[in-house]
Amino acid sequence: MANDVFFKNQLENKPFVHCKVGVSLDGFMALENYESKYITNTPAQKYAHLLRAHYDAILVGARTIIEDRPKLTLRFNYIKNGYQSPHVIIFDPKSILTDQDLRAFSAGVTIIQGKNSQITCSDVDIIHTNYHAIDWDNILKQLFKKNIYSILLEGGCYTISSMYSQKEIDKLSYIISPKIIGGSLGVQPFSKTNPVPSLDKLSPLQHSKFRKFQDNILIEGYIKDVNLWKT
Ligand SMILES: NC(=O)c1ccc[n+]([C@@H]2O[C@H](COP(=O)([O-])OP(=O)(O)OC[C@H]3O[C@@H](n4cnc5c(N)ncnc54)[C@H](OP(=O)(O)O)[C@@H]3O)[C@@H](O)[C@H]2O)c1
Repeated sequence: MANDVFFKNQLENKPFVHCKVGVSLDGFMALENYESKYITNTPAQKYAHLLRAHYDAILVGARTIIEDRPKLTLRFNYIKNGYQSPHVIIFDPKSILTDQDLRAFSAGVTIIQGKNSQITCSDVDIIHTNYHAIDWDNILKQLFKKNIYSILLEGGCYTISSMYSQKEIDKLSYIISPKIIGGSLGVQPFSKTNPVPSLDKLSPLQHSKFRKFQDNILIEGYIKDVNLWKT
């Protein structure tokens, strides 16, 4: 939908949140031991970087920083083509991250933390949250005031589940790779949400579209009822 970021910003004074996730055929974004690299293929990863190029910030959870050590930069030549790496936001409600964990990010980062922060670096902007009552509406309004108008949410499971439960994810890009991880103990993107009470409460993505990246399939659409923004 054209102008989705604009509508969200104008009507809610919050950044537009687009969640991108890569999963196996059986719906896992990582193994039980948190390993998650190489689930999706290179063309799908290239598309994920195109998304990064169009968002003000990337948001990930603290466990993802510790397990994956992601660079969260823009690659695949997008920088050469005039795009910039987005700002990095890390959701760390248990305040587990240290200065050492943030060394990889040369530009400043914003970190959403609970009590007892161990961070002392001066170029880290901290937004405080209550570990027992995370209030995404308030966090997003604070980010909006810091000129973050659009966010690409890249995991992990707890961060996605927490925002989804509070109805703060606007759009979803779900990339399925035809590989089976098996078992039931891997990490699933929405596993920490409350299940719908009955099937008649299910609502499909709106304006959904599909795309193939060789053998990977993208399903993309809106979670929010975007028609509300037009009324
Ligand atoms: N395939 C993909 O697209 C993709 C993308 C990103 C990440 N991943 C994978 O996702 C995994 C990480 O996901 P994750 O869900 O463990 O963590 P996460 O979302 O990256 O981080 C969430 C943070 O919130 C904390 N937390 C957990 N439950 C909480 C609660 N009830 N109240 C307050 N804070 C809470 C976590 O604590 P703890 O540190 O104690 O857990 C962690 O520090 C990694 O394996 C990563 O590789 C996959």
